[in-house]
Amino acid sequence: MAFPKDFMWGGATAANQCEGAWNVGGKGMTVTDASTAGTLTEPRYTTYVTKEGEKKKAVMFEELPKGAHRAVFDGYYYPCHEGIDFYHHYKEDIALFAEMGFKIFRMSISWARIFPKGIEDEPNQEGIEFYRNVFKELKKYDIEPLVTIYHYDLPVYLEEDLGGWGNRELIDLYEKYARVLFNEYKGLVKYWLTFNEINSPLLIRSFVPNYPKEKVKDDLQLLHHQFVASARVVRAAHEIDPDMKVGTMVAGVTSYPLRCHPDDVIANQKRQQDDFYYCCDIMARGEYPYFAQRLWNEFDAKLDITDQDLVDLKEGKVDMVTFSYYSTGCTTVDPNAEKAKGNFSTGAKNPYLKYSEWGWSIDGQGLRYLLNELYGRYQLPLMVVENGLGAVDQLEEDGSIHDPYRIAYTKEHVLAMKDAVNDGVNLLAYTYWGCIDLVSASTGEMKKRYGFIYVDKNNDGSGTLKRYKKDSFYWYKKVIESNGEDVD
Ligand code: BG6
Repeated sequence: MAFPKDFMWGGATAANQCEGAWNVGGKGMTVTDASTAGTLTEPRYTTYVTKEGEKKKAVMFEELPKGAHRAVFDGYYYPCHEGIDFYHHYKEDIALFAEMGFKIFRMSISWARIFPKGIEDEPNQEGIEFYRNVFKELKKYDIEPLVTIYHYDLPVYLEEDLGGWGNRELIDLYEKYARVLFNEYKGLVKYWLTFNEINSPLLIRSFVPNYPKEKVKDDLQLLHHQFVASARVVRAAHEIDPDMKVGTMVAGVTSYPLRCHPDDVIANQKRQQDDFYYCCDIMARGEYPYFAQRLWNEFDAKLDITDQDLVDLKEGKVDMVTFSYYSTGCTTVDPNAEKAKGNFSTGAKNPYLKYSEWGWSIDGQGLRYLLNELYGRYQLPLMVVENGLGAVDQLEEDGSIHDPYRIAYTKEHVLAMKDAVNDGVNLLAYTYWGCIDLVSASTGEMKKRYGFIYVDKNNDGSGTLKRYKKDSFYWYKKVIESNGEDVD
């Protein structure tokens, strides 16, 4: 058995991490535009001006004081402002994706490029045309776009003046924005994802120290608004073009019990429910799961859910379940267990796994496990829309980059997907994350490179932006050509 004939191989990016041109073409400012560059040891900061006019910075994810406005200061470096300048290099980049044989390319649209503040009556035509040109360029090579409508880069006006997703008004604004996209790109874009890693608001509590219980309560309400917004947009897509397929996108934070002690097993089951299934169940099944009330009780949350919300959720079930997958974690009730990092996942260190330079575990089998779990639970088509290895690469004098570690990582995950397909899972696509080097979301670095394509850009913003093919570029081309058969 092998990958299905029409399996879609490709890569993934997000607007705020690669586009650059942050204040070009009528684009408004987004929350990520005020994020500085960090490193593995130094956090990213949000820079802002207080109500009283004082210039300040806060660690990313920290709440800003009331009345504060994000602002850009001299003397700080903001890596998303230029990204890898995909905005001006997209033709060259897409040609390279085509050379690798991509069948699908996941990208996101920056809301603020379409509605600079998020509240305008009419969309920004320059933004609309930019993405139309990108989609046309992809079509030229028969590459299917897979478009994330919202990938962390909320227009600042919506965050600061309207209060962000805690405000119900955002549901209407998001639907309006998505309807513009569906009407404009009907016939060009078939596959859509509503929210990147929709479970991320719930994951934050496990890695921000002393995250207040009150805040989780707000996050549960905020998420409810996102669920309804997502459902309404799924329904809208189907109305506008019945051929459109819309998926949820969840951070695939898989975890195992550290020991077979029943306390660890129960703790892990609860963690999976709270961190993953709470969000995925509602998107796929159109109603909150049975354990939702237990979670709300824990945080004393009494959600504002209207009768119409329940109808919207039912009518806006997704067509497919998609997720990011980088690493797995372990759960234990033992407070002395050694801790590990991961993509949003924290928890105990797994003694059977290797860890990347950024401390994320490498676990291909976990992907097979998750694919089986999800398919068994929902029987919906699946896509792996993010997976990859962030590592330090060396550009040699002759322009080559030897990255056997990335090939080994990706091979392990390709084989795991193949196993899952043989298990009977209906898997439609694989979009490798950061197929071209881009700005890391968690650390803001360039040094944490994922790409098959190297971009000459450094942590401090220096570099020519020239693109180079890594060894993994040729390897992935072969994988695609052989439809996953030749992985050596
Ligand atoms: C996911 C995000 O959480 O992980 C991406 O959807 C992000 O935006 C990716 O880039 C990898 O994380 P990082 O921090 O290594 O960039």
